[in-house]
Amino acid sequence: MSNAAVHEIWNGEAGRDWAENRADLDHFLGGSMAALLDLLPLAPGARVLEIGSGAGTFSLALARAVGPEGRVLGLDVSEPLLTLARRRGGRPSRSAVSTSRPRRWMPGASMSASRISA
Ligand SMILES: C[S@@+](CC[C@H](N)C(=O)[O-])C[C@H]1O[C@@H](n2cnc3c(N)ncnc32)[C@H](O)[C@@H]1O
Repeated sequence: MSNAAVHEIWNGEAGRDWAENRADLDHFLGGSMAALLDLLPLAPGARVLEIGSGAGTFSLALARAVGPEGRVLGLDVSEPLLTLARRRGGRPSRSAVSTSRPRRWMPGASMSASRISA
């Protein structure tokens, strides 16, 4: 799938639907997120990059796990979900991650480090 297609999908219906149904989706995915969190070698002070951080649910769980000395950087392409994540206390960045050519940056995308706190 091209970068443009991914951008269109997640800034269109998929992003809006995810934002509208975030609470239900978080509930549905809660068990998987908890299992994944258990598998990660996280320690207080760790630095974590989450690509596809969406509405920030997992990023916020990561931020709690790494504590005040840690850092979590969330990257995403979806404005509706980035907006929601910001409202929830995160400051995620727009992603410049390519889906098809990892070394190329998505045109017009910006990337900057940011902190997400629990
Ligand atoms: C299943 S949702 C993620 C949910 C999120 N982890 C959470 O805890 O709420 C998938 C996310 O991946 C993002 N995404 C898809 N392709 C991407 C790419 N190439 N770079 C960055 N984000 C991408 C979408 O915009 C969407 O927010």
